[in-house]
Amino acid sequence: MDEKVLTRHFGVEGLFRIDVYRGQGGYRAVETALKRMTPAAVLDEVKRASLRGRGGAGFPAGVKWGFVPQNVPKPRYLCVNADEGEPGTFKDRYLMNHNPHLLLEGTIIASYAVGIHAAFIYVRGEYEAVALRLEGAIAEAYRNGYLGKNILGTGFDLDVAVHRGAGAYICGEETALLESLEGKRGHPRLKPPFPASVGLFQCPTVINNVETLSNIPFIVQNGAGWFLKRGLPKDGGTRIFGVSGMVKKPGIYELPLGTKLRTIIFDHAGGMKEGKQLKAVIPGGMSAPILTADEIDLPMDFDSLAGAGSMLGSAAVIVIDRETSILDVLKAVAKFYSHESCGQCTPCRIGTAWINKIVKRLARGEGEQDDIDAIVRLATNIKGKTLCPLGDAAALPILSICQKFRRELEGYLPHA
Ligand SMILES: Cc1cc2nc3c(=O)[nH]c(=O)nc-3n(C[C@H](O)[C@H](O)[C@H](O)COP(=O)(O)O)c2cc1C
Repeated sequence: MDEKVLTRHFGVEGLFRIDVYRGQGGYRAVETALKRMTPAAVLDEVKRASLRGRGGAGFPAGVKWGFVPQNVPKPRYLCVNADEGEPGTFKDRYLMNHNPHLLLEGTIIASYAVGIHAAFIYVRGEYEAVALRLEGAIAEAYRNGYLGKNILGTGFDLDVAVHRGAGAYICGEETALLESLEGKRGHPRLKPPFPASVGLFQCPTVINNVETLSNIPFIVQNGAGWFLKRGLPKDGGTRIFGVSGMVKKPGIYELPLGTKLRTIIFDHAGGMKEGKQLKAVIPGGMSAPILTADEIDLPMDFDSLAGAGSMLGSAAVIVIDRETSILDVLKAVAKFYSHESCGQCTPCRIGTAWINKIVKRLARGEGEQDDIDAIVRLATNIKGKTLCPLGDAAALPILSICQKFRRELEGYLPHA
């Protein structure tokens, strides 16, 4: 079985152009959905496919769409989360650059299923080339009757626009994204109410990741059963793993959900660079708790990683070798979160700043006896005490590093 779904045609030159995309079977799923299926049938197929969100939390896409009320006299919106701020993560950029029409096709079908007539693609500010590519693809889609009024003569209307972010990690969090899109400071909102009922401009809103939506045309065209076979029963499809760090072949690998971490690192990414030894792996972007070298036989799916106290997150696999000091890893994590904490919740704002200060002091060789315990206390005080999950995203990796690599960190304390 050819395991690749999303990246299968990536070798085809000019795939980002609509004629080439159509030559590979592109936009057939839109025809299938809009001409031969009801919105309810599309929704049902996506539900049965067990497509879990690829942005981090892994919430089933079909279930989320089903929460959007159909009986309120307000417009409904779709926001495509293309903010991709999670360190180590580069899969969405790759998808949008190579195949922007696939994302548009998924966006059109999702909008049809939920009764949405306006969609926004919120792109990370630094991704200027991606934003331009998307805008080019959107213009082509309008010219060819896939966007705008009366799409393919079916009576369905949809407008899509690109919105550029300003490079703030917090704006990838779905409610901060909504605030930012409304022109406000990107501060997360309290949930509930969830965006499905009160979202953009207080209207029902679906927010989905780029990779999540890019899977939709394949589900519609091939059916939920086909999709499920490419992953796990409760976790359909493939996943795009972005591997970076001390491996011979860093890059993007599309593999079935449930592939072992060991297989990703040693079979696909070529193993460790220059004969180096594996020390640790961050399996799902920087906010995922760290794994040690003896935990790499874990299958890479949402439930297995959660069961091991980590998370699949954005499936960005960061490989760390034995020569890399764990204090340097901790320093990078602490610096990132103290810089990116939005400042709205006191435990996160103050806690990440203090942790960063202590880690920097340790790295300068000026640490104090209690420093590791102080970091653990501060991180524990952030965990579960913030309005949005950024607090946990900061606290959990820091706690895991302190717990699993405590002995190495103690080597930086003054008595050692
Ligand atoms: C601090 C923070 C940053 C996030 N950044 C992103 C991001 O860049 N892209 C993304 O798709 N989801 C991101 N998320 C997750 C979103 O809040 C949301 O769960 C996701 O966009 C939903 O789409 P999905 O169900 O398709 O995964 C972030 C969450 C947090 C807490």
